Amino acid sequence: MTESLKLIAGNWKMNGVGESLEEAAALRVALDAEAANCRVALCPPATLIDRMAQTLGGSAIEIGGQDCHGAASGAYTGSVSAEMVADAGANLVILGHSERRAGFGETDANVAAKAEAALAAGLEPIICVGETLAQREAGEAVSVVSQQVMGSLPVSLADKPFAVAYEPVWAIGTGLTPTLEQIEEVHAAVRAAMIARLGAGGAKPVILYGGSVKPSNAKEILAVPEVGGALVGGASLKAEDFLGIIRAV
Ligand code: G3P
Repeated sequence: MTESLKLIAGNWKMNGVGESLEEAAALRVALDAEAANCRVALCPPATLIDRMAQTLGGSAIEIGGQDCHGAASGAYTGSVSAEMVADAGANLVILGHSERRAGFGETDANVAAKAEAALAAGLEPIICVGETLAQREAGEAVSVVSQQVMGSLPVSLADKPFAVAYEPVWAIGTGLTPTLEQIEEVHAAVRAAMIARLGAGGAKPVILYGGSVKPSNAKEILAVPEVGGALVGGASLKAEDFLGIIRAV
């Protein structure tokens, strides 16, 4: 089986206004000069997708949304549909990030519905899973994450492009990371759950690691078996930091 290209995706979260696009432009200039050895994506706030698409148009850098609604359209004030995300210029969308699961009450079933909507709009979902510190300390990391994979991946993903991102909640924005052995253990469990859920269709999509990835730790994390890339928060906001991670591939 040919190995899928690694994916390094930057999640800007609720950071960035128009002038932040200078960082996207700087990334583009650097990657025009020195081609990346992997797929590279930036996921800005929804309001910037359109302008980022203009800034990056014609470059190899892909664009993702950070969420979409599970319905195609309707009376959902404040929400954005998958079709809107795609229409603005994105080809990817992050779904089920722990900040949405915890802060907005998103369930596995919600995430699966959003993934269906994303597929219908032609978007490639990046579906996030991850355990809390309490769950890790209770020895439940593998079972929690496996259940999230089983519940959040609709079976219709089987023959479609998508990725799963393993982001331990306690590692997000804290500077803490699991040991390489812990990352390997959970990534293996995620792969097993993907195959249990989707059959052969679960064997190839990349599994990203996310949580305090930075230029100084990217190389060792990206070398762990089954780590097919990274979902990067804080270190994706500055082109120079993000480049340091891309160069580690
Ligand atoms: O989605 C990426 C994220 O949650 C990780 O954030 O800032 O720890 O890299 P950060």
